[in-house]
Amino acid sequence: MTETKMRVFLPVLIVLVATTLCVQGDNATEIAENKVEIKFYRLQVSEWDSGLMESKFHALLASETNTYCASNLAACGLIGLQSEFKDSHIGKVDNSPLNDDKDMLYEFYIMYPENSNKSSPSVLTYVLSESVVKTIILQLRTNTDYISSLGCDKCYITYIGSDFYGIPPSALENKIIIPLAFLVLLIVIIIAISLTLWDKRREKEARFQKMHKPKPKGSQYPTKPAPPKTTELPDEKV
Ligand SMILES: *[C@@H]1O[C@H](CO)[C@@H](O)[C@H](O)[C@H]1NC(C)=O
Ligand SMILES: *[C@@H]1O[C@H](CO)[C@@H](O)[C@H](O)[C@H]1NC(C)=O
Repeated sequence: MTETKMRVFLPVLIVLVATTLCVQGDNATEIAENKVEIKFYRLQVSEWDSGLMESKFHALLASETNTYCASNLAACGLIGLQSEFKDSHIGKVDNSPLNDDKDMLYEFYIMYPENSNKSSPSVLTYVLSESVVKTIILQLRTNTDYISSLGCDKCYITYIGSDFYGIPPSALENKIIIPLAFLVLLIVIIIAISLTLWDKRREKEARFQKMHKPKPKGSQYPTKPAPPKTTELPDEKV
């Protein structure tokens, strides 16, 4: 009796413990599963270091995290922002940053501030989830002039994870390309309208000439016999 109880109880216990461990995870596991890699266009580790860009970037990220989480508490898994995210809550993965040809890869995660109260027990314990971090970096990319804040030249964030976001055209290119596109469009429209008008006018002229010609065609009639017309016309008139 006790042996059968043990046989049932022990596997159940093992499964329970394993599940709890898997769900809760630990700090290192959560970091490994929620770190995000981004790519800076045309940036090298040497410039990143000499420009002291890491502390600037962490400060930008912390600020953007507060902005995002303040208006998206549930997404961040928080009840309130009792303690704010600071640059010390941005962690980078050990072998980060790395040069990737002419670009630079940077892998990081965002830790919850100490004493932050989570909205539900299913929320991660130590770090913000990967999807939230990706959203925050996308917001940073869209809403801030991080390029000049970092003090680099064209270090656009082109990749967030495996998603490519492209290289935005510079302000100068926008100033030239947008009016140019409008000009080309305008020219195309003018040409289209002129062609239509010209065509209509030609049609009108042709019709006018046809109507007002004093029928010299009668003399040409015998030389150009049109068999279907000659047979049809008399039939209709009868
Ligand atoms: C989690 O791990 C990171 C990196 O090793 C460390 O900086 C951080 O303090 C740890 N957090 C906790 C709550 O242990
Ligand atoms: C959140 O944390 C603060 C202090 O850290 C505490 O006073 C407050 O009661 C907590 N709120 C909830 C809903 O747990």
